[in-house]
Amino acid sequence: MKKLLGTVLALSVIGGVAFAGGSQDTAAAGASGSVVLNKDKPVVFFNRQPSDPTTGEIDMTSMNWNDKTYYVGFDAAGGGAVQGQMIVDFLAGSDASIDRNGDGIIGYVLCIGDVGHNDSRARTEGIRKALGTYAGSTDPGTVQEGSVTVGGTTYKVVELEGRAMTGTDGSTWNANAATEAMGGWATRFGDQIDMVISNNDGMAMGCLQASNYPAGVPIFGYDANADAIDAIGNGQLTGTVSQNVDAQAAGTLQVLRNLLDGLTGEAVYTNGITVANADGGKISAPVDYVADTKALLAQNTGVNASNWQDYRAGVRDAGIVQSTAETKKVLLTIYNSADNFLSTSYVPALNYYAPLYNIDLTIVQGDGQNESSCLDRFTNLNNYDAYAINMVKTNSGRDYLDKLRY
Ligand code: BGC
Ligand code: CA
Repeated sequence: MKKLLGTVLALSVIGGVAFAGGSQDTAAAGASGSVVLNKDKPVVFFNRQPSDPTTGEIDMTSMNWNDKTYYVGFDAAGGGAVQGQMIVDFLAGSDASIDRNGDGIIGYVLCIGDVGHNDSRARTEGIRKALGTYAGSTDPGTVQEGSVTVGGTTYKVVELEGRAMTGTDGSTWNANAATEAMGGWATRFGDQIDMVISNNDGMAMGCLQASNYPAGVPIFGYDANADAIDAIGNGQLTGTVSQNVDAQAAGTLQVLRNLLDGLTGEAVYTNGITVANADGGKISAPVDYVADTKALLAQNTGVNASNWQDYRAGVRDAGIVQSTAETKKVLLTIYNSADNFLSTSYVPALNYYAPLYNIDLTIVQGDGQNESSCLDRFTNLNNYDAYAINMVKTNSGRDYLDKLRY
């Protein structure tokens, strides 16, 4: 199988092969007459889990596309809880000065990334549950009064406003929208704002850019992007959460590698992940497998002034070693070239690890708004051995898979 795939690909690159069905995007027929169909190749969704934007329900139709379809991400619910707990711990260790206007209420504003994205919802939920403001929904504005302990005294908590940070171009998780929102909040709420919380670092850093950002007000992000870690170091950002981008990028590549090498069953999500692969390589951080959703998930850790030095950029996983397997070609999409996490954390990690897995990556990046910005470049599909997909909208899995159906 491995050999045949190689042969077919070589032929399709040279050209002059017969295409099954006569279309450019169908699989090429090999000299022997056997056909490697795109629909039988590995597909790994990552970072944006195929799911219903309203209910969050996992799109198992896409996940069951073929027996080589998996999701690689991180434990979103656990991460939301880590972020919430980090904020509660911070408040517990603070004193009365945190309540800027002394009204006995901790007021906060919340930057929401994308109301239809599982990771964003999980963070909003984790934050609100920890602060007692959760009223059964992650929608902007659906909140109740909560309570927390600040240095041994109980305070009320009020979410002054939670807003989805959608850019003027329609893109989600938008840092510029956060700068603008923060400017408005600072004017409107003044010293009612005791804390700023964000679903990601990109938007938190955006808030800090507001010229009227209330100096010294604690602010929490998520992702542990390099600039956010530096901002913790210099005291601008209070805390963030690492979703372990190295484990995720390496996990995406190792699962692809395993599938391309013909591994099946448990070996797909354990080889090189929880046990050493044939070359002796293994991801160092813990990664869990959730069988129900075919999802491989990295774990989260809170990062603040006490441990930020351990999360400085450029520290790669030394557990991953050079593969000796045959080089394979993978087409990978990124939903938005302007997303801070994907562009400053995930893509650099992919580019670092891909050569170690002998994976020749072709990355196409979208605009974060139109699915077509990625889909239109999800082409020449029979030139690739496998696909890795980061969708613009979490319910677009079908659109990519449809292109692989031959
Ligand atoms: C990241 C966000 C990012 C989003 C994009 C999330 O997992 O934490 O920062 O913008 O993915 O899909
Ligand atoms: Ca107050």
